[in-house]
Amino acid sequence: MTEVIFEFLNKIGFVHPLHPALTHIPMGMVMGAVTFRLVSFLPRLKFLARTGYHCIILGLLGMLPTAFSGYLDWQHTFGGTWEFLIILKMVLAVVLTVLLATIAIVDDPENPRFDKKTLFYLLTLLLAIGLGFSGGELTHQLLQAALH
Ligand code: HEM
Repeated sequence: MTEVIFEFLNKIGFVHPLHPALTHIPMGMVMGAVTFRLVSFLPRLKFLARTGYHCIILGLLGMLPTAFSGYLDWQHTFGGTWEFLIILKMVLAVVLTVLLATIAIVDDPENPRFDKKTLFYLLTLLLAIGLGFSGGELTHQLLQAALH
């Protein structure tokens, strides 16, 4: 199935990896969610907690296509070889999805408090950093292999 997708994309002139184009959705939304959540504790800016919550929803919606495109790139470019960074990415992606879904269900953005739910927001940022770092390491591996 992977090769059918990439052959089709090649035919229409798209010859790049898919995943980097999509990673910006959950990465950006998580960063936005945490920023707006923290800013909402400033005087008169409480309403921005709702903006942060909406970032969580869009980030959650972006997780499935992003993880799927990561899987496709892994099959296509890395030949589906199992290695620590890929396993780490899969684990982090599952944990981040569960955490985003939990926030979507339990958070009340009309009454933001510096409590467990805000801690969940901060944790999503740590997980996104882990995903970005391990992804960057994988990209670096590709560049090294191309240079040698
Ligand atoms: C099952 C889940 C995932 C797999 C198998 C996976 C796999 C990969 C692979 C193979 C790369 C190397 C570059 C490429 O060829 O695309 C990569 C890079 C990257 N991944 Fe993932 N990934 C997954 C989930 C995610 C998620 C959910 C995020 C974001 C929240 C993410 C963020 C990144 C970033 C930022 C890069 C660096 C490349 C770039 O976008 O510039 N990954 N990933």
